[in-house]
Amino acid sequence: MKVLIVGRGGREHAITWAIAQSPRVEKLYCAPGNGGIAALAECVPIEEMDFAGIAAFAKEKSIDFVVIGPDDPLAAGIVDHLEAEGLKVFGPRKNAAEIEGSKAFMKELLRKYQIPTAAYETFTSHDEALAYLKTRPLPIVIKADGLAAGKGVIVAHTAEEAEAALASIMVTKAFGASGEKVVIEEFLEGQEMSLLAFVDGRTVRVMEPSQDHKPVFDEDKGPNTGGMGTYSPLPHIDPAIIEEAIRTIVQPTADALVEEGRPFQGVLFAGLMLTSDGPKTIEFNARFGDPETQVILPRLESDLLDILLAVAEGRLDESDIRWSDSAAVCVILASEGYPGSYPKGRTITGIEDAEWDALVFHAGTALAPDGESVATAGGRVLGVVGRGADIAEARDRAYAAVARIRFEGAHHRSDIAAKALAGIAAIEAAEAVEASEE
Ligand code: AMP
Ligand code: GLY
Repeated sequence: MKVLIVGRGGREHAITWAIAQSPRVEKLYCAPGNGGIAALAECVPIEEMDFAGIAAFAKEKSIDFVVIGPDDPLAAGIVDHLEAEGLKVFGPRKNAAEIEGSKAFMKELLRKYQIPTAAYETFTSHDEALAYLKTRPLPIVIKADGLAAGKGVIVAHTAEEAEAALASIMVTKAFGASGEKVVIEEFLEGQEMSLLAFVDGRTVRVMEPSQDHKPVFDEDKGPNTGGMGTYSPLPHIDPAIIEEAIRTIVQPTADALVEEGRPFQGVLFAGLMLTSDGPKTIEFNARFGDPETQVILPRLESDLLDILLAVAEGRLDESDIRWSDSAAVCVILASEGYPGSYPKGRTITGIEDAEWDALVFHAGTALAPDGESVATAGGRVLGVVGRGADIAEARDRAYAAVARIRFEGAHHRSDIAAKALAGIAAIEAAEAVEASEE
C-alpha cells in the first residue's frame, strides 16, 4: 500500500515508524514531515491545512490510505474533504472531532449522557464569567473553549490568578477566537491518566494507559506545555480503575456520539483524573496524543496499519490487538524559552549516539541547509524513548540517551515517571506492613 501521513510532530514520527514496520507498506509519504520522519518516508512540502493540496497529491500518487495526525485539520474537516475526493482516510469526521474542537460541546455531551466530568459552566460574556467566578471556591480551572495547543487551560490558585486568566482569554484574547467562549470548571484532585482508544463507531479497543507531564518544570511547576514527557504502563494504578474508566467514560462517550449522529472513527483520547470519587473526564481529544503515542506505539505488538485500516473500514471488532509487557519512558527535549517564544535553527548533535539504545522521535527539527545535520525548528524538539522490562529500566535508558544529545539552550524535565516509581514504592511499603502484621 501507499500511505500518506499528515503532520510534522513527534507523534507523526512515531506513527510513521510503526506503520513502516508493516509488511503491507510499499511506499510512505509524509506531509509535511520533519527532519526525523525524512529517514522513513518521503516528505512533501504540503501544509496540514492545505486540504486541496493534500487531496491533489494523494490522487496524483494513487495513495491507498491517508492517516491524519494533528487536531487542527481534523477540527476543520480534513476527513470529510478527503473522503469527498474518494480517498480512504484514518481519522474522525468534523462533527465527531468537535469533541476536541469545542470544550463546550464536549461538556454538554457528557452532561446529557451523565458521563463523569468536573462540574462546570460556560460563558461568552466576560462580566458574567467574572461574577460566577467570585461565587466559586479555589482552586478553579479556566479554559478557552477552542484549540490552543494545550496551553489554553489555567489552574488558578488565587482570585487574582483566576481573574487574570479570564481577562487574558476573553479581553486580551491570548488564544484568539478559541477564547470567545470560556469554560469555568471545578478543580479535580488525583492522578492523571491518558487513555487512548481505537474506535470505529461503537467498537472500542483501548490502548495501554499512559501518563503525560504537562507543566514545563520538575515537580509540575511552571506553565503548561503540549507535554514534556510520558510513560506507559502505569504499574501503580489498579487495573480495576482502568476498567471502570472504560465502562463509565470511554464506551459511553463512543455510544453517545453514535446516538447524536456523529459516529467517531479514529483515536478517541480520554484525559482522565483518577479522583477519590472514581475516574472523571478532564478532556477528550480526537487523535493520538503527543507525546503519549511515543510510548504507546513502541509497546504495540500488532500491525498498526492493519488496525487503522480496520477502524476506517468499520471492522475493528475483528482486530486482535496485542501489547508487550515491557515499559517505555519518553523525555522531551525542548528549545530555550519554550513554552514561550524560542529560537530556531540551532544545530543538534548526538542523536545517532542516543539511538544506540533509545528511540529518538523528532518533533521540531529540520534538516540544516548543509542537508546533513539536523537543527531545531520547534518548541518541543525531540522525544527520547527508553524501553525496558519495567519503568525504572526504561527511565534509566531514556535519561542515559538524553545525556548524549546537545543543542544550545536545550531543557528537559528530570522527573519523568517519578510518580510511577514513588507509587510502586508506596505499594511495596504497604504490602511489607501487611505481611509483617500477619
Ligand atoms: P487540558 O488541556 O484540558 O488537558 O488541561 C491541561 C491540564 O490542566 C490537564 O492535564 C490538567 O493537569 C489540568 N486540568 C484541566 N482541567 C482540570 C480540572 N478540572 N481539575 C484539575 N486539573 C485540571
Ligand atoms: N499530550 C496531550 C495531548 O496530546 O493533548
